[in-house]
Amino acid sequence: MNKKINAAVFPVAGLGSRFLPATKATPKEMLPVVDKPLIQYAIEEAADAGITKMIFVTGRNKRAIEDHFDSAYELEAELASKDKHDLLEIAQSVAPKGVEFVYVRQSIALGLGHAILCAKPALSDEPFAVLLADDLIKGSKGAVQQLITASESVHGPVIGLETIEPHQSRAYGIVEIRERVGEHVIASNMVEKPNPEDAPSNLGVVGRYLLPYEIFDVIENLPTGSGGEIQLTDALAVLAKRDGVLGVSLKGQRFDCGSKLGYAKANIEYGLEHSEIGDSLRAYLKSLIV
Ligand code: G1P
Repeated sequence: MNKKINAAVFPVAGLGSRFLPATKATPKEMLPVVDKPLIQYAIEEAADAGITKMIFVTGRNKRAIEDHFDSAYELEAELASKDKHDLLEIAQSVAPKGVEFVYVRQSIALGLGHAILCAKPALSDEPFAVLLADDLIKGSKGAVQQLITASESVHGPVIGLETIEPHQSRAYGIVEIRERVGEHVIASNMVEKPNPEDAPSNLGVVGRYLLPYEIFDVIENLPTGSGGEIQLTDALAVLAKRDGVLGVSLKGQRFDCGSKLGYAKANIEYGLEHSEIGDSLRAYLKSLIV
C-alpha cells in the first residue's frame, strides 16, 4: 500500500449471541483468554504493528470496553496503597503507550460492512486496518504486521486468509483465485458464506484486513448481501473484480474465539504458555490421558 497504516478499526457492536448466557451483559470481546480479554490481544497486535489510533465501532452494552482501556483510579489507588506493584503495573499497562482511542457507535446491526462505514468520520483519507477480535492469531509475527509487510508492493486491499475444510465455507468469506504470487494469492472475486458447492476455493477470509479509504464509496453503494446485511466481503468483491485483492496466508495458529470450541482451545494453548499456570496445566492435561 506504500503508505503507513496509522489507524485500526475494531467492530465490537455485535451481540455475541453464540456465547449466551456469558454475553448477556458482558461484551463478547471482553471474554478472557486466560487472564486477558480478546479485545486487548487485538489492540496489542495493532500497536505492535505501529498503529497508534484505535477506533472502536461500538454499540449498546459495550461500556466495559471503554472502561477497560481507561484508567481505573480506585483500583490503582488500592493496589498502590497495598504495595501490590506487579498488579498495579498490569492494570496500568492495558492501554499501550502513545495510543489514542476513539469510539463511534453503530446503532443498528446492519452487518460488518455497515460497521466499517460507521468509522468513516474518525478517519482521514488514508488506508487503515480492520481487526475482528474474535479471530485470535498466535504466532511469532502479528497478523496485521504480516499484512503490512506483504502490502509493500501493492496499492489495493490486503486480506488475511486461511485454508478451510469445504464444509466450513458457510462461516467465511471465500476468495476466487486469479493467480498465485509466491506465498500469496490475488483474488479476482469474493463470496460471503457460500454453500460448499458454490465456494470458489478453499481459502477463507480471516478477520484481518488492510483497506483503502475508497472502500467507503463502495460500501455506500452496496445492496444488502448475505444474511440481509451490508457485507464487507461484497465491497471487497467489487475491488477484487476491478483491480484484484491481495490475499495473505497468515502464519500462526488461528483460534475462532467466536465459537465455544475455538475459545476453549485458545485458553488451553495460551494457558500452556502462561508463566503462572503453564506447568500445572500441562501436568493436569497429561493426567487426563489414560
Ligand atoms: C466475518 C466476515 C467473513 C470472515 C469472518 C472471519 O464473518 O463476514 O467474511 O470470513 O468474519 O472470522 P463473521 O464471523 O463475523 O460472521
